[in-house]
Amino acid sequence: MITAPQPLAERPGRTCPLDYHYQPADIAKEPVLQAEHVYVIGGLYGNVEALRAIEVMRETEAAKGRSVALVFNGDAHWFDIASSDFARVAAAVEAHLACSGNVEVELARPTGSAGCGCAYPDFVDESVVQRSNRIIERLRETAREEHSHLAQLRALPKTLHLRVGGLQVGVVHGDAWSLAGWRFAQETLREAQQAGWPPGPDSLRAAWIESGMRVLCSSHSCLPAAVELRLGGQAAVLMNNGAAGMPNFRDTHFGVITRISTSTEAPADSLYGTVVDDVRIDAMPVRYDHPAWCARFLRNWPPGSDAHASYWGRIERGPDYNRAGALFGAFAK
Ligand SMILES: [Fe+2]
Repeated sequence: MITAPQPLAERPGRTCPLDYHYQPADIAKEPVLQAEHVYVIGGLYGNVEALRAIEVMRETEAAKGRSVALVFNGDAHWFDIASSDFARVAAAVEAHLACSGNVEVELARPTGSAGCGCAYPDFVDESVVQRSNRIIERLRETAREEHSHLAQLRALPKTLHLRVGGLQVGVVHGDAWSLAGWRFAQETLREAQQAGWPPGPDSLRAAWIESGMRVLCSSHSCLPAAVELRLGGQAAVLMNNGAAGMPNFRDTHFGVITRISTSTEAPADSLYGTVVDDVRIDAMPVRYDHPAWCARFLRNWPPGSDAHASYWGRIERGPDYNRAGALFGAFAK
């Protein structure tokens, strides 16, 4: 028997809710945060050990006279179903600049019709989608207990606009069209690279041109990607930090965040980076307490649980992905 495809509206976790959408030009309409040093933190996923490691990185920079602004670009929550962990992450997000990820939007929504809101593409297995939909429902229970934070989650903007030195920086969770968009995922970027980075209505080139940003920062797709191309004679950069709270490369145990700084000296710990108009842009490792995080994760998500089935392998061994795979355009040199 041939089964009719399920309507998009009835495929939670696969579709992109209407309120996720915006246009690249909307990024420039947001108020500007002027900063000299910024960490863009996407995909913390409730890893409070990673949050502590980022705070230590910031304290280390402060000791050297650099005041770093923390910018959370979505999915700060995910594994933090323990109320104390959820409150810890929420307090950090509230204390700094932040925009929404799909997790924040779905937690703030009164019903769970969009599932996890991930808008997973077809290459992601259906079992992963179903588990993610159940994880968000479990996290929603914790969010209801910690309801004092829900108003803050609802108030988060979809995009952010920074100026670091003289450089225009747009911050999104997904891509320049949707907070759960996958156009800045390494799989999509690989296709664009193979096609010679064509211009087009939803291309990376269009994202830079229509937004007016020289640097775009994203996350959501959960694997890092860095692109540097020439655009009108100037460098333009995309930094997808992957995940701040999960390993991003094979056989590693660190998260990744994006550091943007008017200090042009390369950080000793930089994974890869570039300089645009005297502003240094780097992918930085977040070397969190791995044993402590594993113990906390297993307390909340033991073997047999949905998050354990989907993520424990990655937490233990990293994804099947390496640093060279994250580099596109000039970063590939
Ligand atoms: Fe996301």
